[in-house]
Amino acid sequence: MKQIRYSAPGKVILSGEHAVVYGKPAIVCAIDKRLSITFVPSKKTIYQDEIFPQLEKSVVHFLKIRKETYKKMAYIYFVESTIPIGRGLGSSAAYCAVISAGLLELFTGKEWKKEEINICAYQMEKYFHKNASGVDTSTSIMGGLIYYRKEFEFLKTISSLSFTIPKQFVNSLLLIDSGKPEETTGEMVQNVGILYNKESEKVEKTMNDIEKTTKRIVLSMMKEDPSFFEENIINNQLLLEKIGVVSNSTKKLLFQIKKYGVGKITGGGGKNNSSGYILFYSDNLEKCKKELIKRSISFMPFVPSYRGLIKEL
Ligand code: MEV
Repeated sequence: MKQIRYSAPGKVILSGEHAVVYGKPAIVCAIDKRLSITFVPSKKTIYQDEIFPQLEKSVVHFLKIRKETYKKMAYIYFVESTIPIGRGLGSSAAYCAVISAGLLELFTGKEWKKEEINICAYQMEKYFHKNASGVDTSTSIMGGLIYYRKEFEFLKTISSLSFTIPKQFVNSLLLIDSGKPEETTGEMVQNVGILYNKESEKVEKTMNDIEKTTKRIVLSMMKEDPSFFEENIINNQLLLEKIGVVSNSTKKLLFQIKKYGVGKITGGGGKNNSSGYILFYSDNLEKCKKELIKRSISFMPFVPSYRGLIKEL
């Protein structure tokens, strides 16, 4: 049997992380960093880590629930990725997307629709964190600019927006690495849950404010209004600070580079040490980059990608 290869992109949450776990919307964009997996049929399956058998199990579970005829073929696999790991850019979601697509095809001998792969990948992502909203896997599979809302476990609205992020915005955005968080996304989601249980009214209000910000960010892109966009990036960051997902060192970094622009963490964040990548908007990107180089802080351009999950082989 022939080899199977799928690739999928990472993502940047422009607004709505954490709130999306509580049924609020998120606006997310796939980026041009990708992860791919190649499955090569073999006599014996060789797993490269302890997690993989669990991920494989969730594909088999999905097939059983669907009462699909399948054969658990043996394989070896190769993973390649340019998505930074554990820093809020959707590396584990892209991993779940390509493993789901690849193993579904390997075990059933047919290609699956993106919608179905997404259901399987969502179940798989729950292995990484059980309260996953599904926003990361959905964006990785669909690609482009996605407005996402989880109404119920069985009902999610995944809207591919008809407009793109204005070129002027893209050219002013940078992804700055505040460092790898000590906590996993699952732990950060759990921490917000603990706060929610303790201070329900306050956190509920913050979540509602995040929803407003998310909608305003969408409008700022539609209207191509950079100052409205900047204003809401700041708001989003302050609201994320309120729910305790930003570390002191990340706040300090944003303060130190504030004369170059405004930023917010993207993804699960981190409290103890670093908070992963920061989405940073700057009117003077060149000066900002010079400053970051001087401070030995790594960064990369923000390049949206309109390609989601792709079958490569
Ligand atoms: C992580 O990229 C986004 C979170 O909202 C978790 C989730 O939605 O599953 C923090």
